[in-house]
Amino acid sequence: MGCNENNKECTNNYNKKIVLQHGKLTPQEFLQYFETKVFKTIKKYKLFERNEKICVAASGGKDSTAVLHLTKRYYERYNIPLENLFAIAIDEGIERHRNESLKNLKQFCKAENIKLIIVNVKDNFKTNIDESAEKIRKIGRKPCMVCGIWRRYLLNKYARENGAKKLITGHNLDDEAQAIMMNQFKANVSLTASLGPISGKKDHKMFVRRIKPLYFCTNDEVEIYCKVKGWELDFCDCLYSQEGYRSQIKQMLNEFEEKYPGTKHGIVKSFLEILPLIKEKANQDIGKIKECEICKEPANKNVCNACKLQKELLG
Ligand code: FES
Ligand code: ZN
Repeated sequence: MGCNENNKECTNNYNKKIVLQHGKLTPQEFLQYFETKVFKTIKKYKLFERNEKICVAASGGKDSTAVLHLTKRYYERYNIPLENLFAIAIDEGIERHRNESLKNLKQFCKAENIKLIIVNVKDNFKTNIDESAEKIRKIGRKPCMVCGIWRRYLLNKYARENGAKKLITGHNLDDEAQAIMMNQFKANVSLTASLGPISGKKDHKMFVRRIKPLYFCTNDEVEIYCKVKGWELDFCDCLYSQEGYRSQIKQMLNEFEEKYPGTKHGIVKSFLEILPLIKEKANQDIGKIKECEICKEPANKNVCNACKLQKELLG
């Protein structure tokens, strides 16, 4: 069910990766190793509590499918009632990419007995990514950037409205290392404060805090986990992602990691040491959060970024 021949490459690399990184582990031992690592992250960073309602941001891709499955396993292991867990998927309107993954996700949630809510970008912003891609480029932006802003906005809004206290995302160690470097290069200190295994604004009733159980798992490990599990997923990146700044950073870090193994771990580890100081500063700024004049969601300025983009695109 992959999207194109990139998948062949993924599969060829798969054997190489498991030998290189986990050569001494049998597939069963690898599953155990991976699960233990994720459960340890949940416990060490106290990502959620037994009685909290939790939402998983799901897409049908490898990271969110792995985290959804492992969260459910964690619930079962510690006898946490499953009615406290649900998933939200955002349909961004990317036909060649999302239709198939949403179909897979629906089947997956049904089989795992997890409630799934699907939120449509078009219902909320009167347009979607495919329809607006050209216009987005014309106004000097990238589709993935607009998609990211709308997706974050909708996940926060619908998770909160459905009673979630935390939002689980499938961000892995590679994603985090890329985000840290992007924020460094762009001098985005305020965005840096929202990184870490548990992110988001503390104690703000309009924000659902984001948590990342896959924080210490590399992209390769997540891919291996899904393949050992036998899940037929789309392992390819978003079709629009090549255009983005992040993809350049990703390529750079992958090349660096190849030459100097441990680079990505190093970036994340040193970042975690200074993160408490960055968060402290960000929490002092919490009083500055406003309410968007248009949609009433939280915003840094009078109008939130999601509404601003919609206005730019639709006038
Ligand atoms: Fe949505 Fe690229 S357009 S992630
Ligand atoms: Zn708004």
